[in-house]
Amino acid sequence: MTGRLAGKKCVVTGGGGGIGGGTGGLFCAEGAQVVLLDLSEDALAAAANDIIANNPNANVSTLSANIAEEDDAIRAMTEAASRLGGIDVLVNNAGIRKFNHLVDATPESWQDIISVNLLGTANCAKAAMPYLREAPKGAIVNVSSVYGVIGRKNMGQYDATKAAINSMTRTLAHEEAEHGVRVNCVCPGGTLTPFHKARFAADGMDQADIDAIQADATLMRRWASVEEIAYPILWLASDEASFITGVILMADGGKSAK
Ligand SMILES: NC(=O)c1ccc[n+]([C@@H]2O[C@H](COP(=O)([O-])OP(=O)(O)OC[C@H]3O[C@@H](n4cnc5c(N)ncnc54)[C@H](O)[C@@H]3O)[C@@H](O)[C@H]2O)c1
Repeated sequence: MTGRLAGKKCVVTGGGGGIGGGTGGLFCAEGAQVVLLDLSEDALAAAANDIIANNPNANVSTLSANIAEEDDAIRAMTEAASRLGGIDVLVNNAGIRKFNHLVDATPESWQDIISVNLLGTANCAKAAMPYLREAPKGAIVNVSSVYGVIGRKNMGQYDATKAAINSMTRTLAHEEAEHGVRVNCVCPGGTLTPFHKARFAADGMDQADIDAIQADATLMRRWASVEEIAYPILWLASDEASFITGVILMADGGKSAK
């Protein structure tokens, strides 16, 4: 087996989505055995089919679970570890969004987003940790957001959960170093995934409108591709980053440097 993740047993949450599916595909191309985990069975099937269409040798399987429920996260990690023969890498990528001003946030919407983005990340880390500690070089990569670090209007609930993921990354790095598990975080900037494309299409926006959103927002004046986020995740997951833990890595086209 060759590749930057040769032989690594990896779980990617939110694996039915854009960044999660792309990360799963890149991990397979780099020699990993991958379990894509997601709430949506349809999204999982589409993501796995896409990976196999591009790479018939991909070692990928799918697992439907709700990470917001601790019992389900435990069930999923137990099943993934049983299928793979352990877990070397957990990518905590699943997430949801809320679009509103904070004054309009309701207790229900807070509960909803905290349950998935914050507790879901914590649930999966806790459930995978016994396997990651047993792995020779266990690693977690959390997927946060540039907006966990900088401010803006209209997604304050989401941004607060992403700031919490950054904090949890540092704490887990402290707590798990003695157990041989590295914990890092990637903060993507705007990444043109199918989620955003569908949202913009529903708003009647054309490509010029979509491009204009990022033109003044980042130093690089454009959206990231899924691959441009998957590669930093790959690097942090791989043994190439063996002395890296507790890092919040900005993959934002320079947005946070503006
Ligand atoms: N796309 C961007 O511009 C961008 C920017 C910064 C950060 N991010 C973060 O990257 C990650 C992936 O983003 P994306 O654009 O690919 O999103 P996406 O919405 O396409 O994918 C997220 C996936 O998470 C899954 N999911 C949601 N709730 C779940 C639950 N309770 N249990 C299991 N799975 C669940 C969804 O079904 C979906 O497939 C998210 O955490 C997002 O916040 C994205």
